[in-house]
Amino acid sequence: MTRKPSSETIAVASDHAGFPLKDRLASELGAAGLKVLDLGTNNADSVDYPKYGEAMARALLEGRAERGVLICGTGIGVSIAANRHRGIRAAVCHNEETARLARAHNDANVLVMGGRIIDEDTASACLRAFLDTEFEGGRHQRRVEMLD
Ligand code: RB5
Repeated sequence: MTRKPSSETIAVASDHAGFPLKDRLASELGAAGLKVLDLGTNNADSVDYPKYGEAMARALLEGRAERGVLICGTGIGVSIAANRHRGIRAAVCHNEETARLARAHNDANVLVMGGRIIDEDTASACLRAFLDTEFEGGRHQRRVEMLD
């Protein structure tokens, strides 16, 4: 990933099942000049995914990061946890196109992936698409507002 240095902070969080992928993506974000806020977990010991979805939501809602990357085994548990918070739009993505559309149409502020589902190169491609795609607004703006 090559990009201009940015003042944007990207929060990353995962449970144990997502830890290896989180580690790789955090390194890629750092290497690309982005600030990374790592909310854990930081090893393969079993932990409870709701805590990490919650930590991600709080980091964004408190303004400690602008966007986030959230990973568990499937992506499902952490997305359910994060999406309980108004203002969080956490999208489980499986390929570059879903990551692009999550930004373009849904203004997703959290990219969610399944560490046991997606291969690491596809996950990196999702991350690039998520970071590089602007929200299209227009007809999508009203629909996103309806979510809250
Ligand atoms: C952990 O084994 C697994 O259940 C969790 O990572 C996640 O996939 C839950 O949705």
